[in-house]
Amino acid sequence: MSDAVTAWATQLAEAELSAPIPRRWAHTRGVAGRATEIGRLLGKDADLLIAAATLHDVGYAPRLAVTGFHPLDGARFLRDEYGAGEPLVRLVANHSFALLEADERGLRDELASEFPMPDDTLLVDALVYCDMTTTPDGGRTTAQERVTEIVSRYGADSVVGRFIRRAAPEIFSCVERMEAALAAQPR
Ligand SMILES: [Fe+2]
Repeated sequence: MSDAVTAWATQLAEAELSAPIPRRWAHTRGVAGRATEIGRLLGKDADLLIAAATLHDVGYAPRLAVTGFHPLDGARFLRDEYGAGEPLVRLVANHSFALLEADERGLRDELASEFPMPDDTLLVDALVYCDMTTTPDGGRTTAQERVTEIVSRYGADSVVGRFIRRAAPEIFSCVERMEAALAAQPR
């Protein structure tokens, strides 16, 4: 990983998101900013985290929506169009407890067989933290407010609403773990 990877990710995410879904692009920039801030915690994997944060929602781009499940559509796009490496595509495919949403959509086996969970749980946690503490407009928020906002935007009984309510306890404990790790970090 290198600066070239993060520059490529930014260029690609901007090309796919900024014009058709500008709010999603604003969110993406916020999540990538969070990743840049906490990158030091990841050591040599900082650029991988930033690239994954930048591309985590690329599957929302209307032209890329095949299944309509954005983690899977985005990961397939990155793998098939750009030959992106396993660590990056697995992170995008599994961002923010995507496996639980895949379950709601009947896509769990498809997701898990094509894109197994990354082995590095710190990277997975870090991406959850960046996504779940960033508003849809790219500002800062708490995980509690983020979950509440998602439930009200999609509706409690929608696929996304059911998923996020199921994932909420795991999201909150993940964010707590990250906050503890960040607080313990030498300055
Ligand atoms: Fe997402």
